[in-house]
Amino acid sequence: MKYKIKNICCIGAGYVGGPTMAVIADKCPEILINVVDVNQDRIKLWNSSDLENLPIYEPGLDKIINRCRNKNLFFSCKIKENIQNADMIFISVNTPTKKTGFGAGKASDLKWVEVCAREVAKFSTGHTIVVEKSTLPVKTAEVIKNILQAAEFNSDNHSLKFDVLSNPEFLSEGTAIKDLEKPDRVLIGGDNKDAILSLDSIYSKWVPKNKILHTNIWSSELAKLTSNAFLAQRISSINAISALCETTGADVREVSRAIGSDTRIGSKFLDSGPGFGGSCFKKDILNLVYLSKYFGLNEVADFWEGIVNLNNWHQRRISELIVKKLFGTVTCKKICILGFAFKANTNDTRESASINICNDLLEEGAMLCIHDPKVDAIQIEKDLNKKENHKILNAEIPQEGQWCKVKDINLASEGADAIVVLTEWEEYSQINWKEVSKRMRQPAWVFDARSILNRSQVKKANLNLWRIGDGTKY
Ligand code: NAD
Ligand code: UGA
Repeated sequence: MKYKIKNICCIGAGYVGGPTMAVIADKCPEILINVVDVNQDRIKLWNSSDLENLPIYEPGLDKIINRCRNKNLFFSCKIKENIQNADMIFISVNTPTKKTGFGAGKASDLKWVEVCAREVAKFSTGHTIVVEKSTLPVKTAEVIKNILQAAEFNSDNHSLKFDVLSNPEFLSEGTAIKDLEKPDRVLIGGDNKDAILSLDSIYSKWVPKNKILHTNIWSSELAKLTSNAFLAQRISSINAISALCETTGADVREVSRAIGSDTRIGSKFLDSGPGFGGSCFKKDILNLVYLSKYFGLNEVADFWEGIVNLNNWHQRRISELIVKKLFGTVTCKKICILGFAFKANTNDTRESASINICNDLLEEGAMLCIHDPKVDAIQIEKDLNKKENHKILNAEIPQEGQWCKVKDINLASEGADAIVVLTEWEEYSQINWKEVSKRMRQPAWVFDARSILNRSQVKKANLNLWRIGDGTKY
């Protein structure tokens, strides 16, 4: 192997950059790792002495940070000097969907990636391996390479030299540390064998050799988009079937179990829920749609777009169903929302189904008491684009279309007409329904969009229950 990596810089201290570098630092104590970001507040939180205040909640992350931080893992805003010193640079910045201009609503916005490439071109010294960690459209490496090649050409005595690799990340939030420590596979795409082997030698410190796949750079970029598209496709498929179950008397859990036992299908990712959320599924599929259209493959684009359309329809279906069951109106009715994160074990709310469903209910005039063990009120305020209003908790005067965050579920259920479970937090399966039922306004409803509640306990507490995909008469 030609290049020995001693100093890594990761640009972007987000949900991927932070945990990924923490695990590399933990597994490779001989490598110095600097994670840099333009967001000073985020960096401050990464450096906070109280590990409860890390900007990202991931089980197990705090322990690793405690072991490595300020030993071989550093968080700072010192972008220039850390690029200068690095022999490998990971680009791990955000790549959201473009909001305006060509490709708006579908294509990825690559402005942050381009800024990074230009900074790397400006500040790097000697030979540097640049690794795409962000999820990028196929052919993005070309853009990065073009910028870096211009810098190579203009450098004194051609002293600058770059290699670009694609190394997409497959971690899931909530299980990021486990996924990073025991990945199904690590994908490295590139055209320079020495550069590929240098990155391979880092992962092979803890990942078995047969799980480290080498591909060409375009296959690697496309495999990441395809992987997310396939996963999201399974969720839209089972959610579509859940609607059919509800009208035919079938039970989606039984259908999932039956089809999942077929080893060709497999049992994972077949849980019907309120629709997929998270920062990536929708964005990456829309990116695939954009690319397909760009290359004139309209049928391919329509196929993938259908998965996002189904997800939007499914979330709307749940909102409408809640209103319908509550006698066609939720105006000034108190509804308790359990869960705002897009899945359990994360504080991330990006594209959470809760945002759309809460917005629908607020528009219908409901008063929402929102509970989530990890998401704070400031985040909810940003997502709903509406100020919190505590008056709904004890107001004599109804507060139409208002919301507030609650810590105590029992208190929140006082006078409520309905409870809606939208995130599968473990604690929601432990609720004492008899206690809750006494406090609610009868007849009261429980809507279990995650299918995590004990059906008989809810029923015994004299509550009406709707469960996702459950068409059985009970
Ligand atoms: P994020 O928004 O949490 O973090 C990105 C960080 O990059 C932000 O803190 C931002 O301030 C910083 N940044 C942007 N431009 C910068 C610049 N020029 N210099 C320094 N810092 C800069 O995003 P994320 O969730 O970590 O996702 C990053 C990428 O990884 C995306 O492409 C995403 O699709 C991909 N991905 C995400 C996940 C996930 O679970 N979140 C999993 C796999 C892949
Ligand atoms: C997903 C992929 O699983 C990761 O491999 C990928 O790296 C990542 O996207 C990314 O590129 O960002 P993540 O979004 O963190 O990870 O979480 P998932 O577990 O995939 O869940 C996504 C959404 O689907 C959540 O809203 C979840 O509740 C929902 N889901 C998942 C279901 O409704 N049913 C299921 O059976 C599984």
